[in-house]
Amino acid sequence: MTSPVTFLRNTWYVAATSNEVNDSDFLSRMILGEPVLIYRQQSGVPVAMRDRCPHRFAPLSRGKRQGDSVSCIYHGLSFNAEGQCTHNPHGDGRISERAKVQVFPLVEQAGFIWIWMGAAEQADPSQIVDCSKLLSAKPTAVATTYIHSQSNYQLIADNLMDLTHIDHLHGPLINTHGHLSPQTAEVVELGGSVKSSWQWSGDTIELMRHHLADPEGEVRNTLDVAWHPPAIFMLDLFVYQGEVCVSVEDYHLLTPETATTTHYFFASTRNYNLDDAEYNAQHIAGMRHAFATEDMPVIEAQQLAMGDEELFDLKPLVLPCDTGGVRVRRKLSKMIEAEQTQPLAMVDNR
Ligand code: FES
Ligand SMILES: [Fe+2]
Repeated sequence: MTSPVTFLRNTWYVAATSNEVNDSDFLSRMILGEPVLIYRQQSGVPVAMRDRCPHRFAPLSRGKRQGDSVSCIYHGLSFNAEGQCTHNPHGDGRISERAKVQVFPLVEQAGFIWIWMGAAEQADPSQIVDCSKLLSAKPTAVATTYIHSQSNYQLIADNLMDLTHIDHLHGPLINTHGHLSPQTAEVVELGGSVKSSWQWSGDTIELMRHHLADPEGEVRNTLDVAWHPPAIFMLDLFVYQGEVCVSVEDYHLLTPETATTTHYFFASTRNYNLDDAEYNAQHIAGMRHAFATEDMPVIEAQQLAMGDEELFDLKPLVLPCDTGGVRVRRKLSKMIEAEQTQPLAMVDNR
């Protein structure tokens, strides 16, 4: 049986990277199935509003910018950055109380623009997951990228919580040569988050090997992935050789576009080659290539194979490697259920 699609709304999602939004253009992006218009005011502060005019529902992103306001292309109503209609060229020019567009809370932090799609009065910026390492890193040691996926975000979440797939699906850059699958990951809950960890000794992945003092020497590896609601994943690989640790710390930030499509934002930082801009560009391109050409084709094929069925409704076979992913799905669905049963309507349907 197909379940209705619901998303956690009272939470922060990444709407865009900072550099996708400028002060002259509009960015129109579907988020949680709703069209959202994002632009930057002349002060530099970004704004997000429903990309749908309240008159005849034309996308406002097709309109024109007038300073910090938006003029609808169809019949010329203008809306300011608070979503309030400020100009009506029709009749006596009276502005109806209903001439408003829903505005979504936004926070710009750590190179991302975060959006709150739920009850605006509950939007608390202190709940945004701490990505301050991206801010404190040297610009030549941090990079971000974006992938659009034709799959539900929870299929990508399963992929990230079960890193044993690395040895089966991925090529030589990040393959661990079979160290992961024989292990049962340690899965722990810390506050509201879930973390899966693997350790192994001997060699490391090709991506890291060349940055060791002794590339052929013995190392100890610790691989962790921590989920934070709604779909933020911090993935760390620490490679120890003696007292020296070489590490990468990655951020996978998933924002549902629709029930079957996802905006996949990715950021990576590290503790080696900090001043090497060329390596930085190669590193992010290599990671993006691995996700786009190795993970995504399989995840998108999974989505096609599943249609609009929910994973658990299909009674999947469960393997030991599924523990973290199943824990995340259960916690998230409890959070969504709790939000759905809250007495007050949270969503403004203007
Ligand atoms: S649809 Fe926007 S003014 Fe008519
Ligand atoms: Fe992968």
